[in-house]
Amino acid sequence: MHVGILGGTGPAGRGLGCRLAAAGLTVTLGSRERERAERVADQLTAAWPGRNLALRGGENAAAAAADIVVIGTPWDGTLETVRPLRRVLEGKVVVSMVTALLRVGREIQAVDLPRGSFAATLQAALPGSPVSAAFHHLPAEDLADLDQGLLADILVCADDAGAKEATISLVDAMEGLRGLDAGRLSQAGPVEAFTAVCIAVNVRYKVRTYVRLGGI
Ligand SMILES: NC(=O)c1ccc[n+]([C@@H]2O[C@H](COP(=O)([O-])OP(=O)(O)OC[C@H]3O[C@@H](n4cnc5c(N)ncnc54)[C@H](OP(=O)(O)O)[C@@H]3O)[C@@H](O)[C@H]2O)c1
Repeated sequence: MHVGILGGTGPAGRGLGCRLAAAGLTVTLGSRERERAERVADQLTAAWPGRNLALRGGENAAAAAADIVVIGTPWDGTLETVRPLRRVLEGKVVVSMVTALLRVGREIQAVDLPRGSFAATLQAALPGSPVSAAFHHLPAEDLADLDQGLLADILVCADDAGAKEATISLVDAMEGLRGLDAGRLSQAGPVEAFTAVCIAVNVRYKVRTYVRLGGI
């Protein structure tokens, strides 16, 4: 399985890319600049010499050519990133880890989006690609530290059953992570918005929290 991450040079893409590669998957970190992505991929493989990470860098178009594609760009740059890649993304599962957040005074708040979530906005922009929403609440720093064991649930939303199943399988491939079916894309809004709550708790207690649901 080859996973591409658009905007994979940022903290979220680097962290997820490392974890996926550590799980034995081949990962392409995408970027607007091929050289930057290659540099980041080289740095990550050098940082974890014993792990044999199958991690490489390329333009976003190279990442979009993978079997399954994760969106790791900031929300306000995502649509302009995916639009030119619509053709290559057609028929592929596209996983949105994007949360639309804004700083309001000292607080980080979730942005109200017309379709209720960023994932639904992305689905409207990519009608030929089944979109899922996942990975919103995991702090990038923890993902990137492969020596750190994780014990977290990843809430996965999608309208397309195959996209949901593929995303949950991707999550479950990573040790310590459990993918949970959290409903259709109509549920992605509260899942994305809860990221702002996690950030508020993290700031208040100077910690990095992640989500783990009891009773299941
Ligand atoms: N940080 C976290 O802990 C975390 C956790 C879960 C989910 N997320 C979500 O994951 C996404 C990425 O988070 P991040 O912190 O890694 O973001 P980031 O560092 O701001 O951006 C990630 C990458 O996207 C590219 N990029 C930046 N601005 C862009 C634009 N206007 N148009 C196209 N590409 C652009 C850059 O790569 P190039 O310059 O190389 O193209 C950058 O390295 C966000 O949507 C965030 O909500 C973040």
